[in-house]
Amino acid sequence: MSDLIAPHGGTLVDRFLQGSERDAELEKAKSYKQIVLDNWALSDLELIGIGAFSPLTGFMGSEDYESVLETMRLKNGHVWSLPITLPINRELAQSIQVGETVALVGADRTIYGVLEVTEKFTYDKEREAEKVYRTTDHEHPGVKKLFERPEVYVAGPIWLLNRKEPAEFKEFYLDPAETRALFRDKGWRSVVGFQTRNPVHRAHEYIQKCALEIVDGLFLNPLVGETKSDDIPADVRMRSYQILLKNYYPDKRVTLAVFPAAMRYAGPREAVFHAMVRKNYGCTHFIVGRDHAGVGSYYGTYDAQLIFREFTQEELGITPLFFEHSFYCTACGNMASPKTCPHDESKRLTLSGTKVREKLRNGEMLPVEFTRPEVAQVLIEGLRE
Ligand code: ADX
Repeated sequence: MSDLIAPHGGTLVDRFLQGSERDAELEKAKSYKQIVLDNWALSDLELIGIGAFSPLTGFMGSEDYESVLETMRLKNGHVWSLPITLPINRELAQSIQVGETVALVGADRTIYGVLEVTEKFTYDKEREAEKVYRTTDHEHPGVKKLFERPEVYVAGPIWLLNRKEPAEFKEFYLDPAETRALFRDKGWRSVVGFQTRNPVHRAHEYIQKCALEIVDGLFLNPLVGETKSDDIPADVRMRSYQILLKNYYPDKRVTLAVFPAAMRYAGPREAVFHAMVRKNYGCTHFIVGRDHAGVGSYYGTYDAQLIFREFTQEELGITPLFFEHSFYCTACGNMASPKTCPHDESKRLTLSGTKVREKLRNGEMLPVEFTRPEVAQVLIEGLRE
């Protein structure tokens, strides 16, 4: 009997074929037509396969796609805020028939999976951009990517057959079934998930620890799939997380594992998506701070919190924990947020991401009230490589 939170939709999807079934499918797939996946699609394929995107079992058809754009729910009513789709070019789409099974290959020509084609459909990029990203500005990294991708979506259930071998940090690649088993072994009944694409600075640490005060465990789950080029590389971040946890977190209360997804920078909609996926990994709570999954000034500071009002707690299942913009206050002498600190801006230490990167690239340490020195050291060395 498990007392863990149920996966989204009730069942943890498993579309990862193994053993003789996999060998047989892989053999057949050698003669199938091929679709070459970009990094986004490749990570989506893997995440569907391992159940991280439960209840999805494949790339979305037009009914789910429409429903997601318009209602942030799948056609069966389950909350789902981002389209998970596979775009291909028109010529290839014409050569593929509905009912056919195609091989999904990487740029390295490895067959990573197969897709049973149930539908092909064209889509309106402007509309998708407006709905998902709340902007059609091509400077937005998610919108840019959308417009670079081909014009026909091909849909259907998938089977995952192969996975990319991680170059590093293999032990931190845990599938939802594994994190669930781990949380159960640890006896955690409540787990807070933390999404990040950045090093963990003091503000992140503060909100994580505030959350940890009220739950059994913290699941630090950094995204390590495709990010925009000026974000700090995942391998450097991973080293920084390890040194931070070793020095400042109680070992028994934290699990570090990577989230091998691509970053969309879709702000509010991505926050909901991030929460649903962490529920699949076994989290009961999920942290949403300031400008979650945002970029530039496309979203209001708390838009990614406000969007949760569009869902009932029952349909979300996971409980979002909202935190205001946190900082170190010199007058309070501690970390705080506008909720807990009465002082004005002049007392509050804040640094922009750009400023932080600039300092690190110049080999300058960050203030200890902003970033732990051990973390800053790893980042300086990492960015020098
Ligand atoms: S994100 O794109 O993955 O959301 P980031 O790694 O910066 O970016 O943020 C991780 C989480 O911490 C998000 O929930 C974000 O809202 C939150 N967060 C980041 N900085 C702060 C801050 N100074 N105060 C409060 N929350 C923050």
